[in-house]
Amino acid sequence: MSYDKKMLVGRAAEARLKAYSPYSSFCVGAALLCADGSIYEGANIENSSYGATNCAERTAFFHAVMEGKKDFTAIAIVGAKRGEELSAFCAPCGICRQVMAEFCNADFEILLCDGNEIKTYTLGDILPEAFDKGNL
Ligand code: THU
Repeated sequence: MSYDKKMLVGRAAEARLKAYSPYSSFCVGAALLCADGSIYEGANIENSSYGATNCAERTAFFHAVMEGKKDFTAIAIVGAKRGEELSAFCAPCGICRQVMAEFCNADFEILLCDGNEIKTYTLGDILPEAFDKGNL
């Protein structure tokens, strides 16, 4: 499926403004494109326990799954300190990569943007030899 990468990154940048991150002040936004063309946003939601924090990427996936979506094409991710411009690529953490592997094939695309350039990876690139439902 062809899609507009700049538009998806723009949606991630909008989602980033909704981050709840009083502990790190790091604000991450994600925009998840479904196979049907719909887009679900997510932002990081921190917790005073720290460990209960939910990353932006998982917020976007759980948001979409709660709306019945199961087929995904791509996710755009951006992150920077609150009030600062994007200046570095923000790659998904290991837990979020594992959640992606639950719902997505190896060709699922991950777009990272530093405010200037968009880099495109596949899930197969960033989580090779994944453990998934095929192992059970
Ligand atoms: N975070 C994300 O939301 N996604 C990532 O890809 C990396 C990290 C969040 C978690 C935490 O709220 C803050 O960024 C600092 O780690």
